[in-house]
Amino acid sequence: MEDVESMVEDEIVLKVEDLYKSYNNVIVLKGISFEVRRGETKIICGPSGSGKSTLLRCINLLTKPDKGMIWLEGEELTTRSININKVRQKIGFVFQEFNLFNHLTALRNVSIGLEVVKKMKREEAYKRAMEVLRKVGLEEHAHKYPAELSGGQKQRVAIARALAMNPSIILYDEPTSALDPQLIGEVLEVMKALAREKVTSIVVTHEMGFAQSVGDEMLFMYDGKIIERGPPEEVIHNPKTEIAKKFFERIQELYGREKR
Ligand SMILES: Nc1ncnc2c1ncn2[C@@H]1O[C@H](COP(=O)(O)OP(=O)(O)O)[C@@H](O)[C@H]1O
Ligand SMILES: [Mg+2]
Repeated sequence: MEDVESMVEDEIVLKVEDLYKSYNNVIVLKGISFEVRRGETKIICGPSGSGKSTLLRCINLLTKPDKGMIWLEGEELTTRSININKVRQKIGFVFQEFNLFNHLTALRNVSIGLEVVKKMKREEAYKRAMEVLRKVGLEEHAHKYPAELSGGQKQRVAIARALAMNPSIILYDEPTSALDPQLIGEVLEVMKALAREKVTSIVVTHEMGFAQSVGDEMLFMYDGKIIERGPPEEVIHNPKTEIAKKFFERIQELYGREKR
């Protein structure tokens, strides 16, 4: 008999099946299927316009797919009767552009969701917010406003905000692409630490060092389809398609000099 821990590890958190989405008669997702298991870090990469953000937006119910199904912890999200707000509580989302409230301190940015959505008392929410800010190395900056923080610090606040809600999965959409090169490392370090703690996540990123150090599986998207999948090392160093091969050569030219 399997022990309890390995059974939990094997549990499917998210399942996407044959997902289709079009905008103005242009098909953007063309039959996407994959699963994310508890504790897994799934990497998604691929050229701009391949449908990566649209896929994350479908999972987070920011946009409605035309066809196909999504389940989160066994609950089908693609039914008409779904409670969007309840589902969003279970999904953390980290955007490229931070999306912090500029009129609130780092602490309030993290605690507000706990108070409003999780109905925590302010004191309890502050305590939890401090705990996660400590985790991303920002305890000392808790009382600063976004304008007083660097891009890397702002993105770490956004990660803390997602984490505070104790979500079933965190979706990251190119979390380091808007950052100056010297600020990328600190954000990737936080994300790596969370991946090693087995926080379940999907990370859309072109950071190949990150992908290889903590990614369990990589999905390579092109033109609305997953055209390659496998261990990140395999997909990156031994791609089967000419499209993926060209893409990784290009990435190497653009980012290759810095080791992350
Ligand atoms: N709200 C929208 N309305 C119309 N077209 C969109 C919208 N969102 C995305 N698209 C189009 O869908 C395609 C995939 O976009 P996106 O999912 O953002 O790709 P990626 O994140 O891989 O760069 C692109 O051609 C984009 O122009
Ligand atoms: Mg995108």
